[in-house]
Amino acid sequence: MNEKFAQVTNPRYRLNFHVAAPAGWINDPNGFVYFKGYYHIFYQYHPYSADWGPMHWGHARSIDLVHWETLPIALSPEKPITQNGMFSGSAIIKDDKLYLMYTGHHFGDSGNDDDFYEDQNIAISKDGIHFEKYANNPVISTPPIDNTANFRDPKVWQAGDTYYVILGGQTQDSKVGRVLLYSSKDLLNWTYEGAIAQAKTRDTEGYMWECPDIFSLAGQDILLMSPQGIQPEREKYLNLHQTGYMIGQLNIDTANFGRNEFIEIDHGHDFYASQTMLAPDGRRLMFGWMAMWESEMPEKKDGWAGALTFPRELTLKDNHIYMQPVTELDKLRIKQTKNNLLFSSDLTEQVLLSNVESNEINMQLKADKDFILKFRTADEVVLTLQFDQQNNKLIIARADRSDKRVGYVKPAKMISLQLLIDRSSVEVFVNNGETVFTERYYSEVHPDIVLERTDFKDVHVTTYELEKNAIKY
Ligand code: FRU
Repeated sequence: MNEKFAQVTNPRYRLNFHVAAPAGWINDPNGFVYFKGYYHIFYQYHPYSADWGPMHWGHARSIDLVHWETLPIALSPEKPITQNGMFSGSAIIKDDKLYLMYTGHHFGDSGNDDDFYEDQNIAISKDGIHFEKYANNPVISTPPIDNTANFRDPKVWQAGDTYYVILGGQTQDSKVGRVLLYSSKDLLNWTYEGAIAQAKTRDTEGYMWECPDIFSLAGQDILLMSPQGIQPEREKYLNLHQTGYMIGQLNIDTANFGRNEFIEIDHGHDFYASQTMLAPDGRRLMFGWMAMWESEMPEKKDGWAGALTFPRELTLKDNHIYMQPVTELDKLRIKQTKNNLLFSSDLTEQVLLSNVESNEINMQLKADKDFILKFRTADEVVLTLQFDQQNNKLIIARADRSDKRVGYVKPAKMISLQLLIDRSSVEVFVNNGETVFTERYYSEVHPDIVLERTDFKDVHVTTYELEKNAIKY
């Protein structure tokens, strides 16, 4: 196996304020935690090429959630490196030490992708930088007998003097996704409590639930996870796999999560495998992987692939999760480029910002007319966001893909948009995070952002230039 680290050979699509690896491939965020004065985020990482491979845990830390410093790789597969790897997992603090709980993924000898088993493991650190694998790993060696080998992505938490972990699983009989609950007094010896929830059918709720996460928001319990295999339904579930949530009630004594239907949390092409943490100030924070399995990812040609979303805060209102960029975003604003632009003329088109690279655009306008926002270069329209007023619908289209994505907003007098643009990514927060789209876009020329609409009277725009070197590799 090639053990030379991948190198970035062309910076054209590199991101300026999103966590990514120095080079090579990344997928899921892992181990999001606050430890000894730093936020830590880890990620599924293949440092030797821009393709998925034996999984390592890459690592970065931050004092303020927006400036990140890359740390040495936290977890690596045993040498010599085989296809086996350290799959996704989470972090928790015990006795002043940082514990990581991760899935060991082990391929069988057949070389077949579906010949594997998965177990759960622990690694421990005193300084939050160097990790030692627990000598008696695995701490959970086999799934329950009514589960297939799909048994991964531990999310661990503490309640009173007990630790709990949930894991993504799959039933042996009907092969549907589900979530398994274990408990422990010491993070090392675990007892199986039961399956707290499972998909009603493969097609409607998926054949495997990856990256489960459970937490409370506004007095309700939320199960957030990434089901594989939900079939597309008109405008829903259009990505290869989905990430979403079910609102419900966790009864830990009976190991049951009574729940409502699955709701997609992000409507863009590029969002998956999210993970949350409870910040010291009580906020529920989240990172997602800003990509999707089997997408093209043109940056692979440049020696890297994938990044994490901008960190988001989750809140619950009217049985709906709102996602907003963390307020620390204001630390990245280096210049207000336009202040409350108020258009009064009979324009039908207005350039809001030209040559965007790292920018934020905030817009408020009356929701009484259609509009189109375009990312435009001299040669092409790279991305459009269209508002269909009659249907309270937003549609995202990209030059590099033929499939569109849609999201809806509740009928309202006004509509607001916040766009975080970072060279080859844009995150669109509509109506303070009611509906969110996460997208990559690929253009070697920095585009202009143009608004088309028949009436500009009630359009208010504020824009910022954002810091370009927020990530230290
Ligand atoms: C989700 C996932 C996880 C797994 C990891 C492997 O994207 O498939 O279930 O742990 O990626 O890299």
